[in-house]
Amino acid sequence: ERKCQLSGLWRNEQDSLMEISALADDGGFQGEYLTRVTLAGGCTHVSPLRGAQHQPSEAAWPTFAFTVWWDTFSNATTVFAGQCFVDASGREMLSTMWLLREAVGSLEEDWKATRVGRNVFTRKRIPKG
Ligand code: BTN
Repeated sequence: ERKCQLSGLWRNEQDSLMEISALADDGGFQGEYLTRVTLAGGCTHVSPLRGAQHQPSEAAWPTFAFTVWWDTFSNATTVFAGQCFVDASGREMLSTMWLLREAVGSLEEDWKATRVGRNVFTRKRIPKG
């Protein structure tokens, strides 16, 4: 089966974009995330991400996790966990689930501070010319 590589440019079903750097020897990686949707509905900026792939990465379809800090426009943080696959048509995809934690002003509001969801990422093609 063909190996799935995490590094590169990805897009999810919400049209968010993510670029993951080359992986370090220990499986660590960093990158940038541009979300198309926000809790407040306002404009967004590129946000940093850091994560790691399962090690040793002998698996063709490795599991991974990463965190995005939305520091410049929000006090929320998101963690993603997922697995890299090659689908039946030979295309790589990342199947993930996420937890989005927003900051709330009191412990009484803690119950509503975490959202959960799923995102599927496919490789973004770079148009020619
Ligand atoms: C915020 O609005 O406070 C931070 C941005 C959150 C964006 C979320 S993270 C999970 C989901 N997947 C995306 O690509 N964007 C949303």
